[in-house]
Amino acid sequence: MKLGVPKEITPGETRVALVPESVQQLVKKGVQVLIETGAGTAASFLDSVYANAGATIVPNATDLFSQSDVICKVSKPIVNPTTGTHEIEMMKPGAVLITFFAPLINHDLVQKLADRKITSFSMDSIPRTTRAQSMDALSSMSTLAGYKSVLIAANSIGKFFPLLMTAAGTVPPARVFVLGAGVAGLMAIATARRLGAVVEAFDVRPVVKEQVESLGAKFVEMPIEEQTQTAGGYATQLSEEAHKREVELLHKHVKDSDVVITTALIPGRPAPELVTEAMVIDMKPGSVIVDLAAENGGNCTLTEPGCDFIKHNVRIIGPLNVPSMMPVHASQLYAKNMLNLLALMLTKDGQYTLNMDDDIVAGTLITHDGAVKNENVLKALEAAATARRSAS
Ligand code: NAI
Repeated sequence: MKLGVPKEITPGETRVALVPESVQQLVKKGVQVLIETGAGTAASFLDSVYANAGATIVPNATDLFSQSDVICKVSKPIVNPTTGTHEIEMMKPGAVLITFFAPLINHDLVQKLADRKITSFSMDSIPRTTRAQSMDALSSMSTLAGYKSVLIAANSIGKFFPLLMTAAGTVPPARVFVLGAGVAGLMAIATARRLGAVVEAFDVRPVVKEQVESLGAKFVEMPIEEQTQTAGGYATQLSEEAHKREVELLHKHVKDSDVVITTALIPGRPAPELVTEAMVIDMKPGSVIVDLAAENGGNCTLTEPGCDFIKHNVRIIGPLNVPSMMPVHASQLYAKNMLNLLALMLTKDGQYTLNMDDDIVAGTLITHDGAVKNENVLKALEAAATARRSAS
């Protein structure tokens, strides 16, 4: 079985799906690994190191896609600018694709994959269960993003983070407010604390209070009567009344902060709007907002995804693809997640097999044999079709 890793072609993407160490492990299992030349260069993994790990270096994308039975990627497939052909069309019909491709949103890709009879798995559909933790690439990437968001903020503010007592006077510590204490938020709290900032955090799920406090931050509390968490541990959308109370509560904390880092997310929905223009107007000049939810529209109403600008004397940064700013560890963690997922799909002699009895494999599978197999994606496709019908 030939498993191919192409060079990522999405602009700004620096990660690679497998690192030499993971290649070595696959080769040991009897898999033939093909790496497109230069695939790991942006992440500092050179062709020579892949070759030493047992990979075959392939000179171009056309050869790699046409020879591979399984393709492992990071970013969603797009049109290759060199060949002018879509990566899905470059694959062998019936081959397997494993990558991030947000099938709940990218319906055209789902259709293309089904039309070409590709068996596709989306890394963002891995269930967030205990057994699947070692494959949870979204969490791995959020860990990196939470860490980096604090460094971006520290680099953008004209202040120190720690308390400093110098001969020239005492500098008070920076005040950092983290909104959303999930994977990215908790990592942002830990990083800001390590840099010496005074940190406060808020989340609609009261269960995270203990985790926030164990990191040395203060948990901002708001009594909420309604259920705010699903059985799977994700946040639910607040009622209008609770959302209004939340925004009122946040105003004071945002106003008093030097740095606000926002990470609030409700899966499958646009990011909740938590930081309003009125709050930004009330912030101290020179304060910084890093909006990690920019990919989903932003938690700050003024955020422009991918932009970094100053409004009302506050710097508002909405970074996209933050993990690509740390490609070495992003690739290492992603490759480990990929390897653990592949372990559920490989036979003892290194052949690919589709084991639908495994709940992780079944939950991550999007298309197979010309059909859409994922319940959530089917529902999203149906909802989109109904919306189109009622609009026409
Ligand atoms: P998560 O699901 O682990 O955490 C999100 C948190 O937001 C949860 O704890 C949830 O309870 C909380 N939340 C939901 N509604 C809220 C509200 N109204 N007020 C306060 N808290 C609320 O998600 P994760 O993995 O930490 O990701 C966080 C965000 O970071 C997501 O928007 C994700 O897309 C983004 N992200 C961005 C990256 C980038 O490159 N820009 C990279 C990785 C993640």
